[in-house]
Amino acid sequence: MKNILLSVVLLCGLLTCSSFEQKRQFIVTSQGKVTSQIALKIKELGGNIIDSFVAASFAISVERPFSTGIGGGGFLMYFDKKMNKVYSYDFRERAPLAADRDMYLDQKGNYIKDSSRKGVLSVAVPGLVAGLYDIHKKHGKLPWKLLLKPAIELAESGFPVYPDLAKVLEKRKKLILSQGSMNKVFSKKSQVLQLGDSVIQKDLAKTLREIAIKGRNGFYDSWVTRQIVKTVKKAKGILSKKDFSSYQMKTRNAVEGKFLNFNVFSMPPPSSGGIHIIQMLKLAENLLKNNKKTSVSNKDYEKIIAIMQRAYKDRADYLGDADFVKVPVKKLVSDAYLSQIVQLIKNQKSYINKDHIKNPKIQENEETTHFNIVDDSEGMISSTQTINGWWGSGVMAEGTGVILNNEMDDFSVKAGVPNMFGAIGGLQNAIAPQKTPLSSMSPTLIFDQDNKMHMSLGAPGGTRIITCVWQTVLKSLWYKQSLKDAVNGPRIHQQWSPDKVEFEKSLDSSVQKYLLAKGYPLKERVSPCKVQAVKLSAKKMIGVSDSRGEGHVLRLSY
Ligand code: GLY
Repeated sequence: MKNILLSVVLLCGLLTCSSFEQKRQFIVTSQGKVTSQIALKIKELGGNIIDSFVAASFAISVERPFSTGIGGGGFLMYFDKKMNKVYSYDFRERAPLAADRDMYLDQKGNYIKDSSRKGVLSVAVPGLVAGLYDIHKKHGKLPWKLLLKPAIELAESGFPVYPDLAKVLEKRKKLILSQGSMNKVFSKKSQVLQLGDSVIQKDLAKTLREIAIKGRNGFYDSWVTRQIVKTVKKAKGILSKKDFSSYQMKTRNAVEGKFLNFNVFSMPPPSSGGIHIIQMLKLAENLLKNNKKTSVSNKDYEKIIAIMQRAYKDRADYLGDADFVKVPVKKLVSDAYLSQIVQLIKNQKSYINKDHIKNPKIQENEETTHFNIVDDSEGMISSTQTINGWWGSGVMAEGTGVILNNEMDDFSVKAGVPNMFGAIGGLQNAIAPQKTPLSSMSPTLIFDQDNKMHMSLGAPGGTRIITCVWQTVLKSLWYKQSLKDAVNGPRIHQQWSPDKVEFEKSLDSSVQKYLLAKGYPLKERVSPCKVQAVKLSAKKMIGVSDSRGEGHVLRLSY
């Protein structure tokens, strides 16, 4: 393999990286230190950004096993500069063939507590490996095997427990210590691993080696498949070998929209993210006061809350897997429809209270992971990947090191029953065999008026992802804040139901007082989103990783 000549490598500060160099620029922003290093190393070896993406996806699966992994799935938005084309790939989990609309209800039709969230019944058919394999086949340059090598080495030789991991091990210690396979990996002397302890994942390395050798079949038609099905069947789950052999990644058409002079491309259904980000940007353009100031006024905050509320009402009413139900994508982002919403918001005297769900308990922290890889000569990668909740279903398939997702909880398990993010769904998002649960993951790409690459961003954070990504874009493009301020500044969140407006402590106290006096049901909460973003302009490319999390931005000039 021919190595490229690297003239400058700048290892940046942990959370931000920028440069005025005139050379070619490559930036990766991820939540994993080793993952970012691996993405960059693949570039050094002569890989393209898809190669870096594949290697980074396997690496982050090893490095942040509580939030993502090969037992889960995700989305990719990819701009190929040479082809001048945006690709939108869906390798999210699908409902098993034996799934049923009422599978989480008892004989009286009541939801069986936690049944969609914990254990083998919460597991949907994983899609990550199939997605990576097909995407690599279509766009990759380096050999598949080589891209798995760094992840295999990481799983085998291990890495020290970092603060985020120590926190989630402590929070889930009862689960980890009681689950044989997980206990073997994540505990020592009957205690969960502590900060600085080494995490060694030998079984996962064995599984990754099988995938390196056999490609897609290494996960979907091998001893790994048999072990997963056996573990699930033993605990009375419904995943079958046929679920694995029939899994297919799907190529989607991105949702597109104009905001100011920018063109925004984001993830279409089964994600709700793209539609609502574009809806909310267009509503903002019509409703916010002016874009001359970098600060957000009290009145703008009221409009921002109303915009979020209307978008999430649409999410509950219309969104689902468009292969199974009709989702009026074009209508929801159309000027005609949005001008009706603008009028509704303009006529709205105050916050609309919803009386049906006051404050459902949020069961878990929102995990998932996001990373961007941008090369100004090649294109942009924005990918969000997940096993859903912390440690997914809490089930590790015996002898494989694979932690299985609990993505079934992203379906509306029963109309009116909130999922673990407190979101209510309708029949559009009801369970059906092979259907994809509705997602909020919002990998997004933005281009300027000359169709030049401008931004790549996304975040983890459950239903909050959409408002986090939207506010970051808004602050950067409308309020013209620096990317660092746009990512790290205070956020708010309203999702129609439950009836509350989340805000961060750092929100200006005068804004807090104003909203409180106006009767908004405020609730303080740190934003769970760890936004990762890269911004490009004529001379400068900057990468920012949210200061709320453990981000790792690395740059290469060559
Ligand atoms: N599981 C989180 C999401 O897909 O939005």
